Amino acid sequence: MFQAPYGAHDILPEDQPYWGFLNGKVGALAHLYGYERIDTPIFEDAGLFVRTVGADTDIVEKEMYTFVDRGGGQMTLRPEGTASVCRAYIEHGMAYRQQPVKLFYQAPIFRYERPQAGRYRQHHQFGFEAIGDGDAVLDAELIDMAWRFFGSLGLKNLTLQINSIGCPECRPAYLAKLREYYVGYKDGLCGDCKIRLEKNILRLLDCKKLDCQPLVAGAPHSVEYLCVECAVHFEMLKSHLLTLQLPYEINFGMVRGLDYYSKTVFEIQPEEERGQSTIAGGGRYDGLIAELGGKPTPAVGFATGIERIILNLKKQKVTIPEALKPLVYVAWMGDAALRTAVEVSGELRMNGVATLMTYTPRSLKAQLRQADGAGCRNVAIIGDEEIAQGFVTLRDLSTARQEPVALDKLTEFLQQNN
Ligand code: HAM
Repeated sequence: MFQAPYGAHDILPEDQPYWGFLNGKVGALAHLYGYERIDTPIFEDAGLFVRTVGADTDIVEKEMYTFVDRGGGQMTLRPEGTASVCRAYIEHGMAYRQQPVKLFYQAPIFRYERPQAGRYRQHHQFGFEAIGDGDAVLDAELIDMAWRFFGSLGLKNLTLQINSIGCPECRPAYLAKLREYYVGYKDGLCGDCKIRLEKNILRLLDCKKLDCQPLVAGAPHSVEYLCVECAVHFEMLKSHLLTLQLPYEINFGMVRGLDYYSKTVFEIQPEEERGQSTIAGGGRYDGLIAELGGKPTPAVGFATGIERIILNLKKQKVTIPEALKPLVYVAWMGDAALRTAVEVSGELRMNGVATLMTYTPRSLKAQLRQADGAGCRNVAIIGDEEIAQGFVTLRDLSTARQEPVALDKLTEFLQQNN
């Protein structure tokens, strides 16, 4: 028996209302803040991610689904959305559009991780990228958008954490300090961290191993090593967040797991879980467009894990709008009635009335049960007598009341009475 690949999921009809609900909210949010939708291919040249996410990150080192296609190209199933959007920004000359270019996407994302609750090998993200403006006002607007999104869903008890990890000007001094600190504890580091110490020091702060946590907690803070430009940017960001009345906390140890960030980084987490199930994360990536061959262009963005949002909506018992139900079920008994049922169903659907029927003969009782199970409020019953006299017996399942309705008046009657 085949099963969905480990860590990947089917999204069954019963869960689709959550997806519909979130899609609607994201569309409205994008409109509110001036973002337009972009869709990029599910796979890209592997080099795109190695170059941007970083060769020494967990994503590139351990998690990418990379394959050689029949033409010999190294392709990767997208492990995140930002690099693809930046590639598209350059490829389509978006630098010549009005800046910033604000884009959003909904995309499946692939990471070969160890699956657990809220962590999958295929998950989905909504992402927002604003490319072409370096001012902290834009960072604040983006964080405001992320925060208000979760508010609009009815999610509670979330925390908003921010940090600044500086820029290529000031980061080397910070990294030197971090190295100095960690070298002293080298022997106590986990295997991965020993390698990180050699290859990518900032990633030491990402370590999730329990034994490394005291070291992460005691590490020097990046904000203490910011150059004037980054320090002013961070101050301005905090001031704008205050103006927007966003309840942020500074998390000095947060560096995010991708290499392209500079200055602002932020995450939103459910309060009780703290870091175990971040529902949104992002930050500024001023060097990324240039890294991909575009002219230097500042940018900021974030993405949110859709499955994790849905887990939280369920956990917090947030009620979401129900899926639309069919309005009527056409029940029939006998061959002659089948012909009329096909005709009536066709007519109803032509007029925009969502209609179900049985295809194989069933007892009336079984058809009523089916109608009820599908959430139909009305059943139009057609038997010999109804055919002879040109009407249907319309049963309202919520009251069990029945009345005759002329065949040629059925659409109008249903539209007016529901
Ligand atoms: P990320 O933090 O790697 O950032 O992922 C964004 C969100 O995707 C996470 O906060 C989490 O909710 C969700 N997520 C990540 N991995 C998994 C997984 N294995 N299973 C379920 N959900 C997951 C990025 O991808 C950046 N591209 C965000 C960004 C946009 N930065 C700037 N612009």
